[in-house]
Amino acid sequence: MTKPIIIALFNQSGGVAKTTLTQNLGYHLAQKKKQRVLLVDMDPQASLTTFMGLEPDELSESVHSSIIDSKPLPIYSQLIHGMSLVPTDINLAASEMQLASAISREYRLKNALAKVADDYDTILIDCPPSLGLLSIISLTAATHILVPIQCQFKSFKGTELLLNTVAQIHQNTNPSLQFAGFIPTMFDSRTAQESRTVRAIQEQLSSIATVFPPIPKSIAFADASERRVPLALFDKNHPAVSILTKIASSLEKLAVKS
Ligand SMILES: Nc1ncnc2c1ncn2[C@@H]1O[C@H](COP(=O)(O)OP(=O)(O)OP(=O)(O)O)[C@@H](O)[C@H]1O
Ligand SMILES: [Mg+2]
Repeated sequence: MTKPIIIALFNQSGGVAKTTLTQNLGYHLAQKKKQRVLLVDMDPQASLTTFMGLEPDELSESVHSSIIDSKPLPIYSQLIHGMSLVPTDINLAASEMQLASAISREYRLKNALAKVADDYDTILIDCPPSLGLLSIISLTAATHILVPIQCQFKSFKGTELLLNTVAQIHQNTNPSLQFAGFIPTMFDSRTAQESRTVRAIQEQLSSIATVFPPIPKSIAFADASERRVPLALFDKNHPAVSILTKIASSLEKLAVKS
């Protein structure tokens, strides 16, 4: 059995489209023949759980039970838009404290995912906007990290901190972690500063990993998530849909380092 590709969508900055991309890239991967996709919501804000149409307050179980009590992953009983989902709720917020002195706490998600590895081709982990334990647990479980970056100078400056964090993970808990790439997000091509930032992202980060084409800024993303659907199901002709499809095709070709 080949191991699944496990991609953590991570950036410690908030609101850069981690969750939006987790849902949309997962959807396009699941559309591809024979791709079995699992999404894991590791953010106590539970945006992914909500975007997928579930009510975090009404869940009987969340990823929290796997992280804290090492129970099997509570995979939602039905496919949602062709994807499996491990939902979360606000209880996950307490896990950093609950795990304060737990042994091997960084490996909790890695161990839980190992038990379902044969059932999926790609697993996408939606990380919280922090450098805390939940992000460390997510990056320790991942084979790859995919980094959305907002096309603004201030967001781009945060990448140094991000690269340091990844280097720490590499050294300590996950030596085989690889970059899947960087995705400039919410790009407004009419703004000169944003165009300059995209160029700077390409110049400075393409030696580390692929810099994907920017995702345009569009209110349609918020409209789609309000309707609890991926963009392609809200407006299949939206220009961002073909960009998302292309990024999903590149992700499909990633390989796991043994
Ligand atoms: N390309 C885009 N253009 C315009 N708005 C977008 C785009 N992508 C995402 N958004 C919107 O920006 C907001 C933040 O997106 P999202 O929740 O995916 O970011 P995030 O990085 O997961 O945030 P957090 O750090 O809080 O988890 C949402 O309202 C979303 O609909
Ligand atoms: Mg999010």
